[in-house]
Amino acid sequence: MPEDHPESGRRPAMHSVSDYYSAVQLRADRWSALRGAVDGLMHLGPDDAGAVKLARRAEELFEALGPIEIYWAFPGLAAFDHMRRQLDHRNWEDLAFSVRRVVRALTSGAYRRRTIPLARGDSDAEDIEDEATLSPEARALDRPYFEVLLVDEMGEPQERWLRASLARMRRTEDAFVYEPVVVPSLEDALIGILFNHNIQAVVVRPGLSLKSRNTLEILTKLLNRIGDEDLAALAPEDYGPSLCRLIARVRPELDAYLITDRSVEDIAGRDLGGCRRVFYNQEDFLELHLNILRGVAARQKTPFFTALKEYSKQPTGVFHALPISRGKSISKSHWIQDMGAFYGPNIFLAETSSTSGGLDSLLEPHGTIKEAQELAARAFGAKQTFFATNGTSTCNKIVVQALVRPGDIVLVDRDCHKSHHYGMVLAGAQVVYLDSYPLNEYSMYGAVPLAEIKQQMLRLKAAGKLDRVRMLLLTNCTFDGVVYNVERVMEECLAIKPDLVFLWDEAWFAFARFGPTYRQRTAMNAAKNLRRRLRAPEAAKAWEQQQKELEGADDAVLIKTRLVPPPTARVRVYATQSTHKTLTALRQGSMIHVRDQDFKGEVEQAFHEAYMTHTSTSPNYQIIASLDVGRRQVELEGFEFVQRQVEAAMSMRRAISTHPLLQKYFKVLTAGDMIPEKYRESGISSYYDSEQGWSDIWDCWASDEFVLDASRVTLSVGGTGWDGDTFKTEILMDKYGIQINKTSRNTVLFMTNIGTTRSSVAYLIEVLVGIARELDDLLDDASAMEKRAFERRVKSLMVDLPPLPDFSRFHDAFRAGPETPEGDIRAAFFLAYDEGNCDYLDLDGSVKAALESGREVVSASFIIPYPPGFPILVPGQVISAEILAFMRALDVSEIHGYRPDLGLRVFTDEALARHAGG
Ligand SMILES: Cc1ncc(COP(=O)(O)O)c(C=O)c1O
Repeated sequence: MPEDHPESGRRPAMHSVSDYYSAVQLRADRWSALRGAVDGLMHLGPDDAGAVKLARRAEELFEALGPIEIYWAFPGLAAFDHMRRQLDHRNWEDLAFSVRRVVRALTSGAYRRRTIPLARGDSDAEDIEDEATLSPEARALDRPYFEVLLVDEMGEPQERWLRASLARMRRTEDAFVYEPVVVPSLEDALIGILFNHNIQAVVVRPGLSLKSRNTLEILTKLLNRIGDEDLAALAPEDYGPSLCRLIARVRPELDAYLITDRSVEDIAGRDLGGCRRVFYNQEDFLELHLNILRGVAARQKTPFFTALKEYSKQPTGVFHALPISRGKSISKSHWIQDMGAFYGPNIFLAETSSTSGGLDSLLEPHGTIKEAQELAARAFGAKQTFFATNGTSTCNKIVVQALVRPGDIVLVDRDCHKSHHYGMVLAGAQVVYLDSYPLNEYSMYGAVPLAEIKQQMLRLKAAGKLDRVRMLLLTNCTFDGVVYNVERVMEECLAIKPDLVFLWDEAWFAFARFGPTYRQRTAMNAAKNLRRRLRAPEAAKAWEQQQKELEGADDAVLIKTRLVPPPTARVRVYATQSTHKTLTALRQGSMIHVRDQDFKGEVEQAFHEAYMTHTSTSPNYQIIASLDVGRRQVELEGFEFVQRQVEAAMSMRRAISTHPLLQKYFKVLTAGDMIPEKYRESGISSYYDSEQGWSDIWDCWASDEFVLDASRVTLSVGGTGWDGDTFKTEILMDKYGIQINKTSRNTVLFMTNIGTTRSSVAYLIEVLVGIARELDDLLDDASAMEKRAFERRVKSLMVDLPPLPDFSRFHDAFRAGPETPEGDIRAAFFLAYDEGNCDYLDLDGSVKAALESGREVVSASFIIPYPPGFPILVPGQVISAEILAFMRALDVSEIHGYRPDLGLRVFTDEALARHAGG
């Protein structure tokens, strides 16, 4: 817990490093602790007994900050050493002044805007302005600041010369300002880019060494992010090229520049990652400077947003069906002036349509929208990216329609978003529903185990239907934060069906690309790796070898074995993302990302048709502009924001799970609670342990079948006697104004986002502590009977939970045969359009009686209780005793598709017989 964190209620002594999840928080807290110490010194006389103690503490803090500060440009090592000497010389007043300045500039971000004088009398500007207090206009006019990492082992004079040479290149017309950070080695460079979020470009110079001399574990463990790469095996001449390659792996958005003294021939043909430019041993600083600025400008560019801004400035007469355009219908109004006042003029000035001319068209992009989509593809690691202005609900239907032909078999996780189920209906797919593992204790589902997917595919293969299996569709990550091992799932499925198409619903995972740990489990990154691996000569050998080993193996062996895909497998991967859910974009702003080897040859035309089917001819241009700007943001500060978001979630986990009062009523669910042990090969069950501190989540993210997205915190609230929904609406929302959007019977889900701050986390903790205190008081005063009633409520929420039902099966009338489970959901859906085919049975009486009499009762509708929010019945599905028991035990207020006054809508036996017969 940070030292002055509000929930601690006390100011403990220096925390051990293991208490920190992130080095960024550690740095911030060390600096404020240093300020505390030197402020204290200033108020004590030099001979005061307390002064010795405080001076020692300040010394310790300088010692602790030393290995951290080398990676940051501000305050810079020269200033840092100067402050250290001030302490040695007991120059406490000057020291206190400088440290206070540093802390304020670090917290406010003022160092990004101007040089911060650290010596007293250097400046009359006592006040360092706070970024947050500046008007948006003032901030927009400011030149953005970033830092450039120079990697070279060199002596002090040479470093000074290098810095000065770059500084001399600054010109008033530069669009950005940057400061250099110099580190000596490849390892330091990797630590630097994973620690310092201000870095936008890395200049790799010929003199770099390999090893870091840093021993601070919280920093050196960042080196795990490069995976099992053997750095020790590198020859010195490979350090530079290897560093460029590793930068592309851990922070692909950064610009790398390689300065080399080797020949062009030596460098050509090497993998340099995304290196923007190689300089051949020249000290052409102007060229380097201009390249650095150009590189950042290329990411800052927002073609569509810029075009829209320009458009809004043009004086045009509107003779077009868009009365709101330029705000005319509002400014002339006597009744809706408040709308204009509320939104301001720009939003209306920018309201336009492609048919009114001047701007590109989303349906047929050739100009700025096309360019914006190409930039998004680069940012998200896709080959093609398509914007959507009607959410991921639409994206899912587009992809399914584009890829699935009527009669194709699609494997889908049953608890996927409803847009997929409707997509299946529209496409006429034969659906195989896959069961996720249930978490009965918390009334929620996990995700689909790979063994279940393989089993279903092998059954289809045995039935001779593999050629019709078209797509595997999974939700990654799930609403509750369970994340698949994407690359492994695709690899093993391709081993069974080498041209399978994958659709990963990443509605909740757009941000993942910008955290190095998260990125490895995104569809686009996994597709890229898989394609690279399949091309390597080892892929063919490994496959041939396994083919020999597995000759004659039965399904049980195949399910247990990690299958190797043939080198000829096609990598065909789609991801749909609600950009608006996790990044900066207006509501409904979503993207489809594609890495499909056969897109151009086979899909493009069908994709275009599907896109036309589902896209409005009046797409909202503000949404498109926001997608363009959201892309700019993540390419420049996605890493920082995601890092901050995970830090906030981690401090929330830690604060709740270590607070004695909160532990009485609440529990943060850990990976161990939400992922059964057999899917956690790393053995890591909790990201924070009060004895051992933080585990490095990288370990489990690299290996486990499932991991937990740490930025989502599921809190078990059953111990309070309130169910999840009541806790959400009556306690959090009505009493404290805290909004959340997912609950289960006994849990609530807190989602952090890229805007979550440490203070908002602190507020939530305060609220939870307040609730726990009130409960404590209430129970203190309660009668024996009231206490028993409370205990009964808690038991019913925490113990007496209805088991979650599996998908039963499609009725035979909608199946081609009994040997495999796929069902014709479309036929069932449209059969129900005729009221005459349907009947209503009431849940408590007639359905139960019908099941007991042995009748097969078949749902005619989607039945979607909220929560959990996915269909527990789909059209054509046989109602099982387990599903009925689950429905009857549900005490949620919303069950979409179910009318309590009429009952469950089911097919009549006659309709089923007629359909089966005909
Ligand atoms: C897994 C999943 N996919 C898709 C969607 C639909 O996304 P959108 O709201 O962008 O239409 C949601 C919405 O909650 C979802 O949870």
